[in-house]
Amino acid sequence: MSFCRPIDTKGRLIILIGMMGCGKTTVGKELSRLTGIPMLDMDTIIEEQIGKSIPEIFQESGEAHFRALETALLRYVESSPPFSTSSFIISTGGGVVLSPVNRSILRRLGFVVWLDASAEVIVERTSRSNNRPLLRTEDRLQVIQNLADKRRNLYQETAHLRIETSGLDVLPVVDVLHASASEFFANPESASIS
Ligand code: S3P
Repeated sequence: MSFCRPIDTKGRLIILIGMMGCGKTTVGKELSRLTGIPMLDMDTIIEEQIGKSIPEIFQESGEAHFRALETALLRYVESSPPFSTSSFIISTGGGVVLSPVNRSILRRLGFVVWLDASAEVIVERTSRSNNRPLLRTEDRLQVIQNLADKRRNLYQETAHLRIETSGLDVLPVVDVLHASASEFFANPESASIS
């Protein structure tokens, strides 16, 4: 990064949602470096709080328990300074939109951006890691397609903006995100999903 381009978020959050491997963490970190806004990763916070990895939480306590931890964390973020009063970028887990409570908290917290990608691109981007319990399967493409089919409407309903990231490097995505976030916080009524 050669220079900083701050965004006046008026103390609200920039939230990244989307399927596993859509680039939330990578894009969030780059936006954080560019703007100086600190970034939080929900999965990392949950792992640190519980003292276990996501696969361990899924295996030992089940997916429903993990989903409850996600909701508890979002409630905490909404009600506790500095998260409720300062600017942060939040990278969420891909399934955060499954809960209606989570979806409404996310909308209230700030600017919600859905990073979208094709199932084929997600297969490629997730192929090098084994830390996603839902993808520990032979047929990753089919599993990803099924999850994406179930979740597409939920991402759509939660997000203020959708960015198609297939075929794009990180920096162009960050550029679009930066411009849209600046516009959103200057004029929150202007946002509409495309
Ligand atoms: C999940 C996505 C993961 C993590 C967990 C479940 C999902 O996060 O929360 O493995 O249901 O899509 P990422 O989207 O950051 O990989």
